[in-house]
Amino acid sequence: MIEVRGLAKSFGDVQALSGVDFAVGEGEIFGFLGPNGAGKTTTISIIAGLLGADSGTVRVNGMDIAKDGTRVRQILGVVPQDIALYEELTARENLHFWGGLYGLAGKKLRGETDRVLEIVGLSDRADDPVREYSGGMKRRLNLSAGLIHGPKVILLDEPTLGIDPQARLNILDIIRNGVSGGMTAVYTTHYLEEAEKLCSRIAIIDHGKILAQGTLAELVMLAGEGSVVTVTGAFSSAQVSPLLKGITVEHFGDGSLRMMIPGRSELSGALGRLFSAGIPIEDVSIREPSLEGVFMKLTGRELRD
Ligand SMILES: Nc1ncnc2c1ncn2[C@@H]1O[C@H](COP(=O)(O)OP(=O)(O)OP(=O)(O)O)[C@@H](O)[C@H]1O
Ligand SMILES: [Mg+2]
Repeated sequence: MIEVRGLAKSFGDVQALSGVDFAVGEGEIFGFLGPNGAGKTTTISIIAGLLGADSGTVRVNGMDIAKDGTRVRQILGVVPQDIALYEELTARENLHFWGGLYGLAGKKLRGETDRVLEIVGLSDRADDPVREYSGGMKRRLNLSAGLIHGPKVILLDEPTLGIDPQARLNILDIIRNGVSGGMTAVYTTHYLEEAEKLCSRIAIIDHGKILAQGTLAELVMLAGEGSVVTVTGAFSSAQVSPLLKGITVEHFGDGSLRMMIPGRSELSGALGRLFSAGIPIEDVSIREPSLEGVFMKLTGRELRD
């Protein structure tokens, strides 16, 4: 549905993107994950036709954004990172403005406005000015503006930034529902757990380059990220070390052992050997491989504001 090839863009001396490639299939929620300044908004803006690329191509539903921009925009919705709403206008008036830009008018515009207000749960506040809205309500309205023309593809640039967990879950549900109704989504976020929960595939971008992409399982494999297993008990390192050949031990002390274990079978093998040797184990805790670990391995940084 979306095909991005060799995208490059610089702003003066700043090389914001250098050779970004990815493809998003129909009905997918594709996660775009990266730290501040990685190039997420630049990529989204180019796909949306709001910004020209220096080189590379973007095709949406087979159409080239550079040649067929107007047609692409008809099937594309954008939810910008910076909230694009008029504070003095009501929610309804804001939506009439955005719907009008997408070419909706009259009864159709009024109907679609009601539809999206309902989706984001703002029908009862539709006639209040946006300046009276909370941050989470503004985010929801911002989202509804990207949905008003019933796009096939939606580009979401950090749509849950700075809002509470409840409102975030609500927005994730809206996106899931949209996708189960046939939409395709590109979802940019700082929140790793959102990407884990929501996205079928994820790309990790830093310094304008995609470092890795794939399903969560593929990324975990690629980064060689395993489960971290901690075992405690009344044992000495001399007792257990012969049983752990081939396992990466991160920390070893009498009575405590922390290991990196790549997969399920290695995990049950190692624990099985400890148990059958009669090692007195009190507690075993397992931390599953996470996107956070993959992210840190690939970028060398944590993904936090
Ligand atoms: N209009 C612009 N003029 C100059 N530099 C820009 C402009 N837009 C982006 N940049 C630069 O391009 C790089 C990528 O920025 P971009 O906004 O795409 O990052 P991002 O991944 O969206 O970051 P964030 O998580 O902070 O939103 C940054 O170094 C940024 O300073
Ligand atoms: Mg951004």
